[in-house]
Amino acid sequence: MRWLLPLGLALAPLAAGASTPAPTFSKDVAPIFFRHCAGCHRPGEIAPMSLLDYQSARPWAKAIRESVAAGRMPPWFADPRYGRFSNDARLSPQEIATIKAWVDGGAPEGDRRHLPPAPESGDGWKLGPPDIVIDIGRDFRVQPGQDAYEHFVAPTNFTEGKWIRAAEIKPGNRRVVHHVHVSMVRDEGEAGSTSIEAMTDLTRFMIREGTLTRVRADAPVVNDACAPDTPPLPYLRGAQEGALASFLPGRQPDVFPPGTAKYIPPGTKFEFVVHYARIEEEGQTDRTAVGLYLAPGPPARVLRRMDLRNFFFQIPPGAERHAVRRCYDFERDQLLLSFTPHMHFRGKDVTYELVHPDGRREILLAVPDYHFDWQLVYRLREPVLARKGSRLEVTTHYDNSVNNRANPDPRATVRWGDKSEEEMMSNWIEWLEPEPQPAPGNASVR
Ligand code: HEC
Repeated sequence: MRWLLPLGLALAPLAAGASTPAPTFSKDVAPIFFRHCAGCHRPGEIAPMSLLDYQSARPWAKAIRESVAAGRMPPWFADPRYGRFSNDARLSPQEIATIKAWVDGGAPEGDRRHLPPAPESGDGWKLGPPDIVIDIGRDFRVQPGQDAYEHFVAPTNFTEGKWIRAAEIKPGNRRVVHHVHVSMVRDEGEAGSTSIEAMTDLTRFMIREGTLTRVRADAPVVNDACAPDTPPLPYLRGAQEGALASFLPGRQPDVFPPGTAKYIPPGTKFEFVVHYARIEEEGQTDRTAVGLYLAPGPPARVLRRMDLRNFFFQIPPGAERHAVRRCYDFERDQLLLSFTPHMHFRGKDVTYELVHPDGRREILLAVPDYHFDWQLVYRLREPVLARKGSRLEVTTHYDNSVNNRANPDPRATVRWGDKSEEEMMSNWIEWLEPEPQPAPGNASVR
């Protein structure tokens, strides 16, 4: 669609020169900002400035023109040749033309009476006020000086099971909270079961330093876990059940498609895993929470998440395009809904390709230019049926060369680790049963 842009460019001055008045903020531009930008560009959110009102937006007019024309804003990294996505963040050529014409026309405010109502802030909840809020249970003090992964277990006190249609994690303190996962556990003893320490078959390959874990330098190396001779190391095959909800920079909250829901059994406890980024100044206090949005009743289908990871890759110093692969062989029919790739600073690109049982290959998502700053979810507009006997091939590349400006150290041999300076290869995939199932009133937790 990008090739349409020059056309918009050519038309905009014409339109401005003709009888059509130049676009104004109040009438033409605010609706675009409210819809496509305000989720991040509002007070208390991740972007540096608010685009909710004219006074705040006006000084940024030139930068806005440039960033939308270049396709940098809103952030979206899917290769447009593959897949259609329901949360595609890109502006339409008309919207881009309107913004350009507005800036070129002097970025006027226009008549305030035309201003649409600003999107509700919902007290910091993007999805509006939740039905139920559960937090980490205490004010946690974050000490300066290093990254930390902290675990908190909080009871839901649910005496009956609940179906939820969405879950939104709200960081208590954005200055320190980098990302958060919330998982369901049955009891305190199971806490940590979603974390690396609990993957006991992995422990012998891991080193722990404080709250951080990394793979030992002398652990076996498997870059291509799709190869037929892949050794039987933990978690290189199959999949693990994923978290209930996740918060990552730029990622939209977990909203489940209509007709689907996730189930929270009675007595469930929530385990929060919070990555606190390193702060240099004085300590900070955090109290992160998850908001739950109840579904009207049992859904036709239960939403699930499976996580595919490779813990055993090794990226050589200076490598420009080091490939790491992980495959999943479908043992039953599954409807695929979304993908969230996760790598760190050296992540360069990722491709999800489905090999159908008849050998036909289909690229479901390609992200040719991955950025650690943006951890987006890509939701397929139409679910893709992966039949029993098909294989999902995930191929990622890492840039450990000096050309990668985000690279903390091109001389390092890089392996899996929690720290941003180490690497990960994680893929979360939401899926559904192809046929509606009887509601699992007594569904097990994981
Ligand atoms: C998913 C969150 C998100 C959305 C949606 C988003 N932005 Fe941003 N934007 C950011 C963040 C974070 C930054 C600062 C970091 C950066 O520049 O990468 C930023 C920076 C900017 C900048 C300054 C830097 C630059 O690239 O010139 C402009 C201008 C901007 N955004 C405009 C917009 C406009 C206009 C929209 C909507 C059409 C939009 N953004 C949508 C998060 C977002």
